[in-house]
Formats: sequence, C-alpha cells, structure tokens
Amino acid sequence: MTFSPDWLALREKADATARAAELLEPLRAVLPDAPLVIHDLGCGTGSMGRWLAPLLPRPQRWILHDRDPDLLELAAASIPAPAETRAADLAGLTADDLAGASLVTGSALLDLLTLEEVDALAEACTGAGCPALFTLSVVGEVEFTPADPLDEDFTAAFNAHQRRVTGGRRLLGPDAAEAATEAFVRRGAVVHSRRSPWWLGPDELFRQWLRGWVQAACEHQPELVAHAADYQCRRLRGEFSTVAVGHVDLLAIGGAPCSTDSGPG
Ligand SMILES: C[S@@+](CC[C@H](N)C(=O)[O-])C[C@H]1O[C@@H](n2cnc3c(N)ncnc32)[C@H](O)[C@@H]1O
Repeated sequence: MTFSPDWLALREKADATARAAELLEPLRAVLPDAPLVIHDLGCGTGSMGRWLAPLLPRPQRWILHDRDPDLLELAAASIPAPAETRAADLAGLTADDLAGASLVTGSALLDLLTLEEVDALAEACTGAGCPALFTLSVVGEVEFTPADPLDEDFTAAFNAHQRRVTGGRRLLGPDAAEAATEAFVRRGAVVHSRRSPWWLGPDELFRQWLRGWVQAACEHQPELVAHAADYQCRRLRGEFSTVAVGHVDLLAIGGAPCSTDSGPG
C-alpha cells in the first residue's frame, strides 16, 4: 500500500485540527527535562512533526521511520527540527531501535498494522521506556449529514475492507486503537485516549475521501457497485453535505515489556 504526497498534503490541515491537543498536557508532564529525541513511525511526508514539534519543548531531534524512501526524503526536508531517516518496515522494530527515545509517535498508522505488529510495537515502546503518542486511528464510525439509506451498507463494507487480509497480513482497521490499548495496558502502561474526528464539509478533501471510501466499500462488497454512482452523486450534490469520520488518539505512559512467551490474546 502506498500513500501519495498529494493525498497526505490534502488531509494535513484536517489532521492537525482533529488531533487531540489535550493529550499534550499529560505528555509534557512526563517528558525528560533534556533535549528530546522523538521517533515518528510511519511519518509519511512529516505531517506529525510539523504539527507536534512546535508544541513541545526544544531542542528536539526527530528520527523519521517509513518504508517509503521518497516520503522520508520529503519529511526530512520539511520537519521544523533536525531530523534523520530510517527506511524500513516497522514490523521488525524493537526496543533497541528506539534506545534513547524521549517519545515515540505515529499518526494514521495503527489501523494499517496487524494485531501482532501492534503488540510488538507496544513491546518496543515499553522496552524503550518512553511515552507513546499515536494519533488518528480510525474507529469505523462515519456519520453523514444528511443521512442516506445506504450509509450503513457502505460503512459496514468499508470497515470490512479495512480489516482485510493483504499480503498475508490481516489489518486491524477500526480495531487498532482497542488492540493497541490492550497491548499497552497488558504491559502495565496507563493509556489516555481522546476522540479526534475529522469534520469534513463539501470541499476537495471531502470529495477525494468519499471517492476512496466508496471505492474501498465496493471492492469489499461488489453488489454495492450498482448503487455507487448514484450514492456518490446524492452525497456530492447535497446542499450542505458533511461527514464526521471517527478517529481516536492514544497516549501510553509507563509500563514494561512482557516476557517473551506471552503474545497478543
Ligand atoms: C496514512 S499514512 C500517514 C503518514 C503520516 N504519519 C501522516 O500523518 O500524514 C501511513 C504511513 O505509514 C507508512 N507505513 C505503513 N505501514 C508501514 C510499515 N509496516 N512499515 C513502515 N512504514 C509503514 C506508510 O508508508 C505511510 O507513509
């Protein structure tokens, strides 16, 4: 799965508005009184760094992780702090890779991972002994105004598509935040969570999001194809069509790695 810089740029403002800034207070309270080393996992073009760096004490050094080297290059050039890059799949990330971290963060990432990967991530973060802030995990709730009789069918098919098996991996999709919370709590961490929905109006982000959402729903449930064009038309010509797309932000503090023989339930 690849992410285009144009799509990430289009959603950046909505992401920044949606992230739960109230989690920054408990986060700041546990950050060390020293230069910060911040690992951004699945950094894309660096949206999280552009949002978070100005909100945390300085000096900071960012370590940007992504498997897409082109996105990493864009991120390193635009983060408002010194940055280095690590091009690798996060599936192999361990506490050693995060040694010396003051904070691990990630945005719009957890729902793309599997249960085992999220569990390993909690193991790595607790092993590194630093807080972890994961923003904008989808929760599968989409609320349109005005409502349409087909909203529920498309939502259910989209959520099932997010939980699909791809390349031999079953993605967590809307179950990711709950799985991450359980993984951190199992390791003794305290997890703070806050809702962070997108509120989209009839603009280009809404149009592109809707197109991708309908397409994914149809991929999962081909019977919906017959209704897709009319449904999209109704949504797009709505006099003032809006949607709330549910996300949640998690801040995990404390905890310690599990013994190696216990896995995700
Ligand atoms: C939805 S984008 C979000 C990017 C950025 N965090 C943001 O908020 O704009 C997800 C990012 O995670 C990266 N990613 C997803 N799964 C990954 C994995 N297993 N290993 C490394 N990077 C991954 C993708 O390449 C992409 O850049």
